[in-house]
Amino acid sequence: MSLTRTFLPMLGHTRGNRDAATCHFKCGNACAKDVCNTSDNSYFRDIADAALSRRSILGLGAVASAALVVGVETVGATAAQADTLVAPKGGGKLAFKAIAPVPRTVDAVTVPEGYDWATIIRWGDPLFNNTAQFDINAQTEKRQAGQFGYNNDYLNIIVDKYSGRSGVLVANHEYTNEDLMFEPAWFAANKAEAAKIAMAAHGFSVVEVKRVKSGTPWSYVRGGERNRRITATTPFAVDGPAAGSDLLKTVADPEGRTVLGTLNNCAGGTTPWGTVLSGEENFNQYFRGTGSASDARYGLSDVATERGWEDVDPRFSAHNPGYENEINRFGWIVEIDPQNPTSTPVKHTALGRFKHEGANVRIADDGRVVAYSGDDERFDYVYKFVSKAKYRRGDRKHNMTLLSEGNLYVAKFSGNSPAAQIDGSAAVPTDGAFDGSGSWIPLVKDGASMVPGMSVEEVLVYTRLAGDKVGATKMDRPEDVEPNPVTGKLYIALTNNTQRDTTGKATVDEANPRTKNRDGHVIELTERNNDATATEFAWNILLVAGDPSKDESTYFSGYPKDKVSPISCPDNLAFDSKGNLWISTDGQPGTIGYCDALHKVTLTGAERGRVEQFLAVPAGAETCGPLIHDRDGSVFVAVQHPGENGTFQDPTSFFPDYVLSPSKAKRGEVYGPRPSVVQVFSSTKGNGKNK
Ligand code: FEO
Ligand code: CA
Ligand code: CA
Repeated sequence: MSLTRTFLPMLGHTRGNRDAATCHFKCGNACAKDVCNTSDNSYFRDIADAALSRRSILGLGAVASAALVVGVETVGATAAQADTLVAPKGGGKLAFKAIAPVPRTVDAVTVPEGYDWATIIRWGDPLFNNTAQFDINAQTEKRQAGQFGYNNDYLNIIVDKYSGRSGVLVANHEYTNEDLMFEPAWFAANKAEAAKIAMAAHGFSVVEVKRVKSGTPWSYVRGGERNRRITATTPFAVDGPAAGSDLLKTVADPEGRTVLGTLNNCAGGTTPWGTVLSGEENFNQYFRGTGSASDARYGLSDVATERGWEDVDPRFSAHNPGYENEINRFGWIVEIDPQNPTSTPVKHTALGRFKHEGANVRIADDGRVVAYSGDDERFDYVYKFVSKAKYRRGDRKHNMTLLSEGNLYVAKFSGNSPAAQIDGSAAVPTDGAFDGSGSWIPLVKDGASMVPGMSVEEVLVYTRLAGDKVGATKMDRPEDVEPNPVTGKLYIALTNNTQRDTTGKATVDEANPRTKNRDGHVIELTERNNDATATEFAWNILLVAGDPSKDESTYFSGYPKDKVSPISCPDNLAFDSKGNLWISTDGQPGTIGYCDALHKVTLTGAERGRVEQFLAVPAGAETCGPLIHDRDGSVFVAVQHPGENGTFQDPTSFFPDYVLSPSKAKRGEVYGPRPSVVQVFSSTKGNGKNK
């Protein structure tokens, strides 16, 4: 039996589907708008060639894969953090019995039997000694800039070398929900101040954490030396080939090399040299565009924004003279150094500009580093960057330049089954798998543009248009794209795309085989020879998501469907020390009726494709930032947008304070939901702490 703590009677506190508010605040209603990618870029079925190259790829790849496991430090960010980090010490792997899926109205963190959970840090918790205690009715820009931000997404806890009892927690803050942050009458009368508070609630938090010993819960250190807030107004340096480009210049930054702030930071990754990468995702919603073709390709409209930041700061409207290019200064991968609170964060133009979900780095056998990234939009693409220079162990200064120069590629997937067998039902083709080969098509190579009619600067600033021109494969919303640190194989979460095969839109292909793909799927990709710098790869679909008890189109690599947990809308990916895949979800309440969840997926052996649900997050929340410290017996998640569809006065979630009425809130507590970071740990070791 799983442990579900329901703190409140939910009747009257839940309002069904959370999609409307999430779409509004998170993505600027992207799903309700026209598809951005209207290019006639085809998605091919080049079967004969595909079958041939697949055989050659698989034949060579098997040998290389065995060699790769030996040099574990050369693959994947997690294992390769040796420069600055140590793997968590302590015994205990994560043995657990899968929990039952949790109905979407349950406002609780649900964990397996034998586990408990605790909140490490919540929206509003003060990071600095001189920051006032959180009072939701007395927020100011200054206070918020000293507090943990809103809607945490990417998460890591980077444990300090040697001690194992200290470290830094790094989280980013994707977006704000003003309906939950502000008392309505105050908000209506103070739009400008509210906008500034919201800007201060975006960005990153870096906060020191400590614990008694390995395996015990972490707590955050107010006033820690490395504590830092990065917000929508923090200066970032621009680097790479587009730095200084005319396309990036504004009246406030005539050099085109310094940008204020980062926006809509979604997923991310920690590099082998200990810095944190994060993607600027749905940045378009913060800007009023001009209605140009390039604006449309990026989802920018010539209408007033919902947030109205253009009324507070002229840079948020391209109509304001001198700010025509401000929108080009967002949509990048950013890199921050969490060990140095005075360092200047960087925007890397070499990795291209699109709605980056995140980026994850693997070190190739020859020492170059490869960063993978998905463009989270229906019918958009998967990319990889290969550095020019090589990783040098222990040379942090050098390694922090690796993402500044290199080659940029976009993925083209080819199926190996006849088109007639890919009929949109997601019925497995007769060769037994959705699979095939693919190639990384160069966009920028050796400093030159590979895209006819576009300069290097244009390719990097208008990367989506470059991908259209070279025939990249239109995917079902690529979210996390992460290499497995144990095997080097790459996993791509395609979260959903209900427009697939609808009128005028791209039809199904073997890599995106389901019509109106509501529940998403996950692709496994093997680089040729398991060489991260390769330009060819093999791929297969690991799972086609959904609730198998109700949906015949689900697929779990042949694992029995009656023995898996239902799963929908795969989003963030993580790996444990054994190389098992962990998948968090974003959208299960609206699709299969269950709270969003974290699942473990076995990748090898007879149990390949087995999905086991580890936890569920509270009503309305999305499971973000999963972090698996299995050697510590701990799992961490960033609980984002709990109670999203509620209001300030009538909340639909009370996580994590669970205060029953406004008058009962103690100092620093809130009547209503707070995005928070949660640690799940063994309850059998005497570590218990209940929230
Ligand atoms: Fe912010 Fe693609 O999720
Ligand atoms: Ca096939
Ligand atoms: Ca995401």
